[in-house]
Amino acid sequence: MSDTLGTIWPCLPHTQAKHRILERYLKAWMPIVASFVKKPQRVLFVDGFAGPGQYERGEPGSPVVALRAAAQHSRTFPVPIDFLFIEKDPERLAHLIRVLDGMKAELAWIQPAFLYKVGIIKKHCSSICCNEQVTISQNKIII
Ligand SMILES: C[S@@+](CC[C@H](N)C(=O)[O-])C[C@H]1O[C@@H](n2cnc3c(N)ncnc32)[C@H](O)[C@@H]1O
Repeated sequence: MSDTLGTIWPCLPHTQAKHRILERYLKAWMPIVASFVKKPQRVLFVDGFAGPGQYERGEPGSPVVALRAAAQHSRTFPVPIDFLFIEKDPERLAHLIRVLDGMKAELAWIQPAFLYKVGIIKKHCSSICCNEQVTISQNKIII
C-alpha cells in the first residue's frame, strides 16, 4: 500500500468502528484459541499492517487495541499470547515502539512477548509459518 499520510494521521470514523470490532473479536476469541493450545506452545497474534500505534488526537491504533484486549480481559489465558507487529514504514514502526514502550506498566501482568518488525507482511508471514512452524490451520495464529 502506498499512501501520502505522515507518520500519524487523523482517526476516521470507519477506523474507530474497525477498532471496536477488533476489540470485541479478540476478547471473544483469545480465550478460545488459547484453550486449544498446549504448553509449551503459545498463541501468536500477528498484526501485519500495524501502523504507528496511535492517531493524531492520541486515539489508540490496532496494536494498542489488541494488547488492551488481552491485558484487560476478565479471564486468565492458559497459555501466553505473543504479539508480532509488522510495519513497513520505519518512522511509523519507531512511533509504534515508543507507544508500546509507554504501555509496559499497563501490560506488566500479562507479560506478553513483543516482536516488532519493519518489513512487508508477505516476507515475514512466510518466515513465521516456515521457520517457527506455526500454521494457520493449527489455530495457533490469529491474523
Ligand atoms: C491503515 S494503516 C494501519 C492501521 C492500523 N492497523 C490500525 O488499525 O490502527 C496500514 C499500515 O500498513 C502499512 N503497510 C502497508 N503495506 C504493508 C506491507 N505489505 N507490509 C507491512 N506493512 C504494510 C502501512 O505503512 C500503514 O502504516
